[in-house]
Amino acid sequence: MKVNTQLLFLLFSMVLLFVSCKTKPKEQTTDSSIDKKWWKEAVVYQIYPRSFKDSDGDGVGDLNGILSKLDYIKSLGIDAVWLNPIYSSPNDDNGYDVSDYRNIMKDFGTMQDFDVLLKGMHDRNIKLVMDIVVNHSSDEHEWFKQSRSSRDNPYRNYYHWWNAEKGKPPYRYSLFDVNHDAWKYDSLTNAYYLHYFSQKQPDLNWENPKVRHEIYDMMIFWAKKGVDGFRLDAFQFAAKDTLFPAFPKGFEKDFVKYYAMGPHLHDYLKEMNREVFSKFDVMSVAEGAGNTFEDAHALVDADRNELNMAYAFEAIDIAKPEGYSVLHFKEVFSKWDSAFASKGWLSIVLANHDQARLVSRFGNDSSEFRDVSSKMLTTFLLSMRGTPYYYYGDELGMTNAGFEKIEDYKDMPTLNEYQHQKNIGGDLKKYMEFIKFSCRDNGRTPMQWDSSINAGFTSGTPWLKINPNYKYINVSAQEKDENSCLNYLKKMVKLRKENEVLVYGKFTSIDKNNPDVFAYTRELNGKKMLILLNFRSQPVTVKTGIDISKAKTLISNYKTPSVNGILQPYEAIVYELYN
Ligand code: GLC
Repeated sequence: MKVNTQLLFLLFSMVLLFVSCKTKPKEQTTDSSIDKKWWKEAVVYQIYPRSFKDSDGDGVGDLNGILSKLDYIKSLGIDAVWLNPIYSSPNDDNGYDVSDYRNIMKDFGTMQDFDVLLKGMHDRNIKLVMDIVVNHSSDEHEWFKQSRSSRDNPYRNYYHWWNAEKGKPPYRYSLFDVNHDAWKYDSLTNAYYLHYFSQKQPDLNWENPKVRHEIYDMMIFWAKKGVDGFRLDAFQFAAKDTLFPAFPKGFEKDFVKYYAMGPHLHDYLKEMNREVFSKFDVMSVAEGAGNTFEDAHALVDADRNELNMAYAFEAIDIAKPEGYSVLHFKEVFSKWDSAFASKGWLSIVLANHDQARLVSRFGNDSSEFRDVSSKMLTTFLLSMRGTPYYYYGDELGMTNAGFEKIEDYKDMPTLNEYQHQKNIGGDLKKYMEFIKFSCRDNGRTPMQWDSSINAGFTSGTPWLKINPNYKYINVSAQEKDENSCLNYLKKMVKLRKENEVLVYGKFTSIDKNNPDVFAYTRELNGKKMLILLNFRSQPVTVKTGIDISKAKTLISNYKTPSVNGILQPYEAIVYELYN
């Protein structure tokens, strides 16, 4: 009997081994140096809730609206949704001014709606990443109300105060303030409070352990509900030298160098990791990645026990109204990739709610090239090493709205800067030209669902004007068109999902000095892909030195991809190479 059991066990193991050897595709052979994680393999789709889908006709997108579109979101093939803030807020900065971290903004619905939405996502295998806005709160948060009420209130130290009898505090720049002054005088207690963003966004005092633990508890509250990740808004700026020394002359406004990565930031992140991240299966990403590769590594290397992935801005910031250099673009992505080739992990991103539209900034939104250039950029975002973040509407090739009148803009810092320019007698015409291309409202216009009134976004008056091109750029039209941008994204996501090489594979830039084409290979465990991307509106030559006669074209944004080394305008091709 004993022998039989052993024999059976042996036979069973042999069968298992045989089956696994036979069925394990080559691609699955894992490279032991790769630390695989779900959040590395995920494609993240970012939703700006205000603009996605309105369910109750008040002109503002909401949670039930998103719920009604979950099948659409699922159809994209993405794995996770990053939702911009949905907490109670007076909406000075569209939810980035939180008045209650444990409640849902009235415009967006109720906590019950949230629970249903989260379940709906999980039922479809979609994860949810929450936006955590804790460099600052709203001035309407109970903590701030208490804090400002008297100098000896227990919440006084939840924020940064400077008593006026000490004189004016050393200058701090505010990004959003009309006068760019980060100290606001409050006569109630004869003191100034600090706000790096607007006056209604006072900075929380991270040096106070009570603040930190309130925040960890709040994050645990959401983690216990089952959310799958956190994006830390503006977190680089959370740590401060509370003595507020004067910054060196000429650098008082140098946000990157003097305001970011303050003392103890890493201690706070390690503490947050210990208290929150390590206890749940959640991913974490901060906005920004410090000032150097060393900073970025210190934030995200696994052995640091801080965050999971870097979200750097160097590439996003390249696009300017006057255009950008493709060589520069290539250089930035190549150097970040090589700095993170063996340690750490990157986000791959070119657009989000703080930027104008992807195709208008990095592609070409003319009627002739919008479609191909948008698909080319999609090919890029989904074929790089790192976790792609894909912004709602980019799957349609949605474009900048480019409003002509200041009244059409809703973005608080844009309006404040307009006022600032007016106050200092600045060139308002020039400013209007600038925001037409760069204002973040361009990237926040409502989702274009169909060609019916208000693009199917709302039955009411949309909070921000809808881009009139919704008549022809919309989900309904693109779902029916096999060659649409939308269907291209779906194919590209599928390609990435089916080819681990596109997630983990080694990246090598080729034809490096080519000023028009980004060409690179991805390699993993004997599998090799070649990606060719023409960033120009005219045909250009690429010299890869690779024999593509035996290569298989996996995807291309042209019906007939070029074969002669001359790429068509904005052409994108992904090949699998065989030796
Ligand atoms: C981040 C957000 C931005 C917001 C700011 C203040 O940069 O992405 O939208 O306005 O922080 O919270």
